[in-house]
Amino acid sequence: MDLELDGNVALVMGSSRGLGKACARTLAEEGAHVVCNGRDAERLSETVAELDDESGDVVGVAADLTDPDAVAALVEETVETFGGLDHVVTNVGGPATRPFLDIDDAAWVAAYERLVLSVVRVVRAATPHLRDGDGGSVVSITSRTVWETIENYALSNALRLAIVGLDSTLARELAPAVRVNAVAPGPFDTGRIDTLVEESLDAGTFDSPEAAREAWAGDVPLDRPGDPAELGDLVAYLLSPRAGYVTGETVRIDGGVTRAPR
Ligand SMILES: NC(=O)c1ccc[n+]([C@@H]2O[C@H](COP(=O)([O-])OP(=O)(O)OC[C@H]3O[C@@H](n4cnc5c(N)ncnc54)[C@H](OP(=O)(O)O)[C@@H]3O)[C@@H](O)[C@H]2O)c1
Repeated sequence: MDLELDGNVALVMGSSRGLGKACARTLAEEGAHVVCNGRDAERLSETVAELDDESGDVVGVAADLTDPDAVAALVEETVETFGGLDHVVTNVGGPATRPFLDIDDAAWVAAYERLVLSVVRVVRAATPHLRDGDGGSVVSITSRTVWETIENYALSNALRLAIVGLDSTLARELAPAVRVNAVAPGPFDTGRIDTLVEESLDAGTFDSPEAAREAWAGDVPLDRPGDPAELGDLVAYLLSPRAGYVTGETVRIDGGVTRAPR
């Protein structure tokens, strides 16, 4: 299926590695102009070198998504570089896993700034440009926590739902010019998993990396963690005109692990 993304402009937040990088890769393969982002400029330029075929269609803009001015500048630089903006993938690194009583106010505020306000700010800045094109679209990377509570994961369990509520609101307020959807991943094989395994060992939840990994992905009916490329393909489809009648939806991509009837 031709996703009809050739020549479109996409901004993928948090895409120097992991799931965001997989989205950037699929979009570039489909012929889109892609802006990748992350804080670490060195890692970002390695990613751009890997994804770009020397056409200059993939560029990197280092920016910390918790900085409002940096988010606005990221959108402006995208538009200046490629002459417009058609698609945005909202994504940022996940919050720490901790029991509720170990999370103080500062940690709640920081997580809100990172997970929620980064999306608010990028969509606000991008909307005039998304409306200018033939079919603007936004996809937010959230988590299976929007469907099912995960132990010791209060920040994600609570704040990811704000994104689903926001996206659902935006799907109505920005229609018909802009479609807005979300994806809710289960376990995917990215560096994030190593961090989660380390955190659970530090907290004493498991006594070996093997046990932590088994708990993380062992219950998946499809019997494996996801390949980030599988998520990249879903996100590219949702962004594309081929999903032109899909908006306000949150799509699970989790190998069947989430125990929720819909
Ligand atoms: N992997 C999974 O199994 C899984 C499952 C469910 C949900 N998720 C969620 O999906 C999202 C992506 O996961 P992932 O596994 O791809 O994570 P990851 O491997 O840790 O990658 C996160 C990306 O975001 C960038 N980033 C982090 N904080 C940033 C900031 N403040 N400003 C700009 N860029 C920032 C990172 O680059 P820099 O560090 O250089 O900034 C990196 O490119 C996370 O929110 C995660 O919680 C992941």
